[in-house]
Amino acid sequence: MVEAQSIVVPPRPEIAAGARIGSMAEYERLYRLSLDDPETFWARQGERLTWFHPWDVVFDHDYANTDFGWYLGGRLNACYNCVDRHLAARGNQDAIIWAKDEPGEYERISYRRLKHEVSRVANVLRAHGVRRGDRVCVYMPMIPELAYTMLACARIGAVHSIIFGGFSSEAIRDRIIDAGARLVVTANEGLRGGRRLRLKETVDRAVDGLDQVRTVLVARRTEAEVPMRPGRDHWLDAECRTQRSTCTYEWMGAEDPLFILYTSGSTGKPKGVLHTTGGYLVYAAMTHELVFDHRPGDVHFCAADVGWITGHSYIIYGPLANGATTVMFESLPTYPDPGRYWQAVDDLGVTTFYTAPTALRAVARAGDAPVRAHSRRSLRVLGTVGEPINPDTWRWYHDVVGEARCAVVDTWWQTETGGVLITPLPGVTPLKPGSATLPFFGVQPVLVDDEGTVLEGRGVSGNLCLSRTWPGQARTVWGDHERFRETYFTRFPGLYFTGDGCRRDEDGYYWITGRVDDVINVAGHRLGTAEIESALVAHEAVAEAAVVGFPHEIKGQGIFAFVILTMEAEQADPRQLQGALIEQVRRVIGPVASPDAVLISPGLPKTRSGKIMRRVLRQIAAGEYDDLGNLSTLAEPAVVEGLIAAHREMAATLAPDPPPEVS
Ligand code: PRX
Repeated sequence: MVEAQSIVVPPRPEIAAGARIGSMAEYERLYRLSLDDPETFWARQGERLTWFHPWDVVFDHDYANTDFGWYLGGRLNACYNCVDRHLAARGNQDAIIWAKDEPGEYERISYRRLKHEVSRVANVLRAHGVRRGDRVCVYMPMIPELAYTMLACARIGAVHSIIFGGFSSEAIRDRIIDAGARLVVTANEGLRGGRRLRLKETVDRAVDGLDQVRTVLVARRTEAEVPMRPGRDHWLDAECRTQRSTCTYEWMGAEDPLFILYTSGSTGKPKGVLHTTGGYLVYAAMTHELVFDHRPGDVHFCAADVGWITGHSYIIYGPLANGATTVMFESLPTYPDPGRYWQAVDDLGVTTFYTAPTALRAVARAGDAPVRAHSRRSLRVLGTVGEPINPDTWRWYHDVVGEARCAVVDTWWQTETGGVLITPLPGVTPLKPGSATLPFFGVQPVLVDDEGTVLEGRGVSGNLCLSRTWPGQARTVWGDHERFRETYFTRFPGLYFTGDGCRRDEDGYYWITGRVDDVINVAGHRLGTAEIESALVAHEAVAEAAVVGFPHEIKGQGIFAFVILTMEAEQADPRQLQGALIEQVRRVIGPVASPDAVLISPGLPKTRSGKIMRRVLRQIAAGEYDDLGNLSTLAEPAVVEGLIAAHREMAATLAPDPPPEVS
């Protein structure tokens, strides 16, 4: 174990906002309290926010109907909590520091200015007919207008649905239709790693012929002129200039929706995970403070994209609810060189830094020199999220980046959990490289075997479930509550099933072993293999497709597609076809789901009942042909030989990978 760095702070029993956990004994006592008396514990946490009207009931759950509610009866506004309430004490403090694509270029937005900008955007939305409860789809680069738009939605009670910039127009269109949005916010272009991203063009294709979308607001990131459809498209800056810089806020119910965020699962199209206002914000604020040991004056740099839950909770809502200074990073970790993160750390005096293991692997492969070129003296806490971190990368982060004086927090959580659930507390929890360590307050992890038997005690591995509700828990799948129940609560009745495998070791520490379903984690991005398969079979040349993950040095997992061609396509040039199929996935889902390898296959290993044996495909994709285990249930065992031969041939001709783009 790596000893925790001691941060000497007086413990306070209630963990009110601003209080610190001083020792493991204190963590254990409070953890027990959070389970034994959740009502008292969570009531205290609710006080982190400013409420217009107090709640009546701290929490209520009804497992039979999969109904969870927190701070019921309470009224609040998330934007007020993230912006207005800080003005008296820290109006001139930086709320957001925007780190632009070009190194060394920053823009600072104070809390006071944030309030004005957000109010203008909120007034623009209202002027275009957006009302409480309406959904607004957002497809934007990492620019301050993205934060303004989210907070403006929260201010007027609209529900934002942010779509990550790596998704295609077809994926955007599906999400707009599913959410029933009438207004979309985008930018003319984005800038990333010196390249221009034509966002407006992508949105145009998404909304073409979609009458439901009446308004497209376009933020201006570059000088580029883009076609503007009269009556539908409006420049956001021009609209803002006509609006006042004050705007009233809605009194939202604690359980009113705050946002929808689409995420992939093992079946079907991505689901619109719904988070509500009170519980989500309490949990985002509390976890941001305790997991990052947030202190007044800190500069928090979460390098994720706001298009993912990490950006929602730890760039925007958590830090701003706590009155922190938060960095929005527009660029890439390797642009213009692998020292980019550390340069920003020095330029801005970053104290708490949070990124994905994949980004660390991408910069670590350039060696230590780009790190050592910068002092990093301001750093105190280093976080990781999104995928298991291999111990080598963990040690590099701890020893080289953090010079063994910063706490490394490997945080496990999901889109559906709203905030971190398994994590060390910096300076308190003794660390083990590769383990997310121990549960956060109020969180009760349960491991069960495939038959649903709960695995008690230590030294056990199983499916990771959670037996308690916590305030940040997702409440439903937008427009399909049955799917919510079905996806998370039926496999192991009475428990929330995460989809992850996990080991609890002899010390009670948790080690996430990766997904146990057909979800893969590529460069920290969660993708459903079924979605990619449907995109492939929609191509006329493909009769059948099976997609699996395979180990990838930088991205954690790469995407491997086995495809069987239709008879007509069998004569086509295989190279060209592989390119066309990669293009097909980029068109249907987006560049984020680009397959790393497409193998034109002689067949797929199926059992006699017709089920594809994915285990065998995963082994072949990884080049592990030697021990394929029991193949006796296969309908045609010879298929396996054919696949191995095809894979060998392909592996021999593969060029080494170019460094991937990670976000
Ligand atoms: O498999 C786990 C992995 O990421 C999944 C959740 O993905 P998403 O909803 O996109 O949210 C990512 C950011 C919170 C999980 O089911 N995962 C997340 N954090 C870790 C992790 N795997 C191992 N260690 C982690 N720290």
